[in-house]
Amino acid sequence: MSHPPESLYLPKVAVLDRVVDEIAEVKTFYWHFEDPAEQAAFKRFRPGQFAQVSIFGVGEFPASLPPSPTEDETFFTIRRVGSCTEALHALKPGDRFGVRGPYGNGFPMEEYEGRNLVFVAGGIGLIPLRSCIIYAMAHRERYGRIQIFYGARTPRDLMYLPDLKRWEQAAGIECYLTVDRPDETWRGHVGVVGSLFRKPDVRMAVENTTAFVCGPPIMFRFVIQDLKGMGFEDRHIVSTLERYMKCGVGKCGHCCIGVAYVCVDGPVFTYEQIRKLGEEI
Ligand SMILES: Cc1cc2nc3c(=O)[nH]c(=O)nc-3n(C[C@H](O)[C@H](O)[C@H](O)COP(=O)(O)OP(=O)(O)OC[C@H]3O[C@@H](n4cnc5c(N)ncnc54)[C@H](O)[C@@H]3O)c2cc1C
Ligand code: FES
Repeated sequence: MSHPPESLYLPKVAVLDRVVDEIAEVKTFYWHFEDPAEQAAFKRFRPGQFAQVSIFGVGEFPASLPPSPTEDETFFTIRRVGSCTEALHALKPGDRFGVRGPYGNGFPMEEYEGRNLVFVAGGIGLIPLRSCIIYAMAHRERYGRIQIFYGARTPRDLMYLPDLKRWEQAAGIECYLTVDRPDETWRGHVGVVGSLFRKPDVRMAVENTTAFVCGPPIMFRFVIQDLKGMGFEDRHIVSTLERYMKCGVGKCGHCCIGVAYVCVDGPVFTYEQIRKLGEEI
């Protein structure tokens, strides 16, 4: 007897394990698939891919995958902005929700082997880049220098604090943090993320380097100007685009920019591709 084909849109049941507060309105949700076979299949995702998260009876939304496939746990880091994300924030450990994916192209980490990697993140832009950073660290011998530049509005807006502490102390990577507005506890750099590039103790990798840039549009524009001023070519700057999505699998057209479907052709694009699409960030 033949079985009907499984719907593309059918989410798999996931169980929430625990929730960690990151910053105001942002939490990290650790989860696993109810079916261990689904968990094993999902774990083959690439850094930079995303998944569709369903809150039963409420709706579905796209979310990046901040874990690296080299890590054991699966999790999302989600800012509460509207009905679906609010409903996820209301879940308790043991509650069930739906996940389908992984979707999208992801960062071609193999193409960057032998190159230096510069990660520049602002605010929650660190969510999609975390996966690449952990992946690159797990395969340290494949890459040249690894530099991380991360900025947030205030010290309370710095995400993934345990990771930041590890990265600051890890041998073989350079991690620089900054905040726009310090508080009485902050002993570090003050200024926008691009101001870190000009610190006297920073020697930016430029030759044979790929720069990953994720953050709010204003930060993106200034960082691109800085990088281009240093000699980065558009094809060596990569980012992720966020667009309203429905299907996530190239069927509905909601995420189109020009000829590109962000859900299947992206969400990772080089700055050269972003410019060709005529996209304003
Ligand atoms: C590929 C991709 C990856 C993403 N990864 C993450 C992630 O890791 N963590 C995270 O917190 N969010 C992420 N987002 C954004 C997330 O999908 C939206 O915040 C979510 O859809 C909001 O759903 P909602 O029902 O809670 O809000 P809604 O009620 O739908 O909207 C509430 C408010 O958020 C705005 N909004 C909704 N969706 C988007 C969007 N895609 N871009 C900009 N503004 C939007 C609306 O205009 C409205 O002002 C990602 C989006 C994409 C496309
Ligand atoms: S979200 Fe439907 S085509 Fe991209």
